[in-house]
Amino acid sequence: EEPPAALAVPQAGDPSLLLLRRVGVVDPASLDDYRAHDGYAALRRAFALGPAGVIREVTDSGLVGRGGAAFPTGRKWQATASQPDRPHYLVCNADESEPGTFKDRVIMEGDPYALIEAMTIAAYAIGAHRGFLYLRGEYPRALRRLEHAVAQARARGFLGDDILGQGFAFDIEIRRGAGAYICGEETALFNSVEGYRGEPRAKPPFPVEKGLFGKPTVENNVETLVNVVPILTMGAPAYAALGTGTSTGPKLFCVSGSVARPGVYELPFGATLGELLTLAGVRDGLRAVLLGGAAGGFVRPDELGIPLTFEGTREAGTTLGSGVVLAFDDTVPLPRLLLRIAEFFRDESCGQCVPCRVGTVRQEEALHRIVARTGADAAGDIALLREVGRAMRDASICGLGQTAWNAVESAIDRLGAYE
Ligand code: NAI
Ligand code: SF4
Repeated sequence: EEPPAALAVPQAGDPSLLLLRRVGVVDPASLDDYRAHDGYAALRRAFALGPAGVIREVTDSGLVGRGGAAFPTGRKWQATASQPDRPHYLVCNADESEPGTFKDRVIMEGDPYALIEAMTIAAYAIGAHRGFLYLRGEYPRALRRLEHAVAQARARGFLGDDILGQGFAFDIEIRRGAGAYICGEETALFNSVEGYRGEPRAKPPFPVEKGLFGKPTVENNVETLVNVVPILTMGAPAYAALGTGTSTGPKLFCVSGSVARPGVYELPFGATLGELLTLAGVRDGLRAVLLGGAAGGFVRPDELGIPLTFEGTREAGTTLGSGVVLAFDDTVPLPRLLLRIAEFFRDESCGQCVPCRVGTVRQEEALHRIVARTGADAAGDIALLREVGRAMRDASICGLGQTAWNAVESAIDRLGAYE
């Protein structure tokens, strides 16, 4: 299988950055090169702080999950660390499948040891001795680099029974996804690892209490984990001073579509959408921007002042999600695009619950009818879409069904898609 071309990282190697500074600079196949670029300084500090000290540091940093849901990472770690039930597991969610999302891939391909170091720190903090890295199946280059990095780390005592002579045992198993979007949902991912169908479980209980193999589990996204490395090297106060009060630190954004320089960008939280699009070279004739991916929502060109923070996008009635910024100019046929999004959700629904299994089909059918009539007489189908969308949002088991109507709704309400 021929790996796809490397992704553009316009700021790669900029030493002022925290997450992309080694990408394109460090040799991803060399543990020694990683160490020569400050690698494993964070793990040494973690051992000096002890597990409770690491959790305190991560909590004080204000780090929240970067997969899209922004749950406080320190709280998650503390909740698992305090569970008496054993063993504890660490899972890295690298099943990056949200359309328009490709930031985790850049880290895994360009700085794989940073992820391994971060997983080791997280495992130490929560008392886990086994970690699973669940990798999107369509990332063969990331797989090769991670497998090599894990093997090297193991051979050199950075994974295994006695890491850095500190008496802490931890190892990582890499599992590949098989192309199902739903397996990125944290509990469907557990089922997939355990050998069952990739179907979400009802929550609660949350994974911090009953996760992989029914045991207390921390599951974090790749980008969330790699933030722990700078948090420990620079210290929580300096990290928390970046960004805004409630969205601290740096964020990776995946910019694509109608821009001159698509790629992954690192900015501190709080930059505006317009500033990011200027960096990426937005083209003339901008019609709409999809924020947060297919599960996110559209904003208009007159809304580019929206601050890129979790709270700022929420206040603006949209979502930051996993950091997707998809720009569309006026050459893109919006109704076709919405139909494509609806097809995606219909295709990826696991079919376990009725609102999503049936709702995603009804949504696609209504959009088909609207496209076939080239938008005329859309009112009846728009009313149906609203009804179906409400049912999916209110009654679906997991985030897929709950968000399957977001993009279509925002296109109707914010962009006037069928007017
Ligand atoms: P969620 O809000 O249900 O949970 C977020 C995390 O917090 C989970 O790990 C959950 O276990 C934990 N959590 C929530 N409440 C808790 C509690 N009371 N105690 C302990 N832990 C708790 O969100 P979900 O469904 O996990 O993720 C939704 C997000 O995923 C969306 O924002 C979407 O943008 C994003 N997403 C990202 C994709 C990607 O490729 N990066 C793909 C699809 C969706
Ligand atoms: Fe499956 Fe959709 Fe129900 Fe989620 S909401 S469990 S994807 S059918």
